Amino acid sequence: MVNQGSILPNKRKLYIESYGCAMNFSDSEIIATIMAENGFETTNDEFQADVIFLNTCAIRENAEQKIRDRLKHLRSNKKTNKDLIIGVLGCMAERLKNKLLEEEKLVDVVAGPDSYRELPKLVAEVDDGGRAINVLLSREETYGDLNPIRLNSNGVTAFVSIMRGCDNMCSFCVVPFTRGRERSRDPESILMEVKELQSTGFKEITLLGQNVDSYLWFGGGPKKEFKSLTDDERLNSTDFAQLLEMVAIAVPNMRIRYSTSHPRDITEKVVEVMKKYDNICNYIHLPAQSGSNKILELMSRNYTREWYLEKISMIRSIIPNCGISCDIIAGFCSETHQDHLETLSLIELAQFEFSYMYKYSERPATPAAKKLKDDVEESIKGERLTEIIKLQNSISLKKNMAYIGQTVDVLIEGDSKKSKDFWMGRNDQNVVVVFPKINQQRGDIVSILVENATTTTLIGKAI
Ligand code: 5AD
Ligand code: SF4
Repeated sequence: MVNQGSILPNKRKLYIESYGCAMNFSDSEIIATIMAENGFETTNDEFQADVIFLNTCAIRENAEQKIRDRLKHLRSNKKTNKDLIIGVLGCMAERLKNKLLEEEKLVDVVAGPDSYRELPKLVAEVDDGGRAINVLLSREETYGDLNPIRLNSNGVTAFVSIMRGCDNMCSFCVVPFTRGRERSRDPESILMEVKELQSTGFKEITLLGQNVDSYLWFGGGPKKEFKSLTDDERLNSTDFAQLLEMVAIAVPNMRIRYSTSHPRDITEKVVEVMKKYDNICNYIHLPAQSGSNKILELMSRNYTREWYLEKISMIRSIIPNCGISCDIIAGFCSETHQDHLETLSLIELAQFEFSYMYKYSERPATPAAKKLKDDVEESIKGERLTEIIKLQNSISLKKNMAYIGQTVDVLIEGDSKKSKDFWMGRNDQNVVVVFPKINQQRGDIVSILVENATTTTLIGKAI
């Protein structure tokens, strides 16, 4: 696949490093595809590379710091290879724009998430002796026509992007500024991609978007234009529940997951579709961010804790064994001890399988940075985060222990991190399961009797 479309005998080598969310890892595959069509072959060896791209994340300050540190290290690569081209792509590129070229002298190319089709041209400009930047955000770009090369693939699981951007404007979040307006991808191109994945042996796909419940196809363009359509045009549109059903029918032998859901937008219709199709996994990632109504309002999340808990009840009443995970931010602007206790109580009531938990990190130019004060002391943020993690871990452990003695179906993804004698896979609810290898293969679905459990992992044996 990497060689596809190239006509140059001596291909230049491209090394891509991805940071941050699944969307970025999926974007790196789009980048590799565009570059392959223009004579670049991906390599896993940074010292062989003619071009190094860092596909960056800007969601928290420490994500950006990690990339700045990496750039310092890349200075020595440039010393040994004077022609090496270094590009910073993705959210950090979009956030800092020209400033990045001024601040990081060794960076040659800066490209935002909607300008990847321009990358070959930008690299050519550097070949001609310049430095090149394109950070234009688009109203239409979804890269829907590309069939992505799979990078560092296990050959079993793949991401499929179904939409780009976000219109939610949660006050803490930089994403609407770095990834632009929300737009959905043509369902036909999504179906083509998932069928192609099925025919090349993949067994599981995750449909990706910043807010998948908001998916709406009506011919392309920004979501907010839906309002001005005629009744007929509206009737011909495709929402997320419909897309999910179309995908479930198109690839009946694949497991289907999706991420991320928004508590304001998730519908009963989507959960009913999940229930109807066995190949859609019983797992939902539903970030709450906080359990305090005052904080939820300051975050512009557009729901209350009661609304959130009602959504959890709705999901569990339709799919009792549905795995639910969460994102939580500790120490948002003006968060009091009482607000923090309400977050703990929400976690207790919701009984998440697991959560991703963060300290609030102020991002320049976001609504929170402009209007609110980042006034919770760093040490208090740390203490609250520790308490949140402790509570979530105890719930995760309790939930995982409850699997002991049960049999779960596991899709084998590859070797366990700790030992090559063990396989690693996930059950329907997205919990990691490890077990000793007998004569199974990557990509098999096997029945595992769970014999032990930790906060993150089920341990068992094939039966
Ligand atoms: N500080 C801390 N966490 C953040 N997230 C998004 N923006 C910030 C921020 N400024 C978290 C949210 C989101 C996840 C992807 O990252 O919990 O759901
Ligand atoms: Fe950020 Fe909110 Fe959009 Fe998620 S839904 S990307 S947190 S603005």
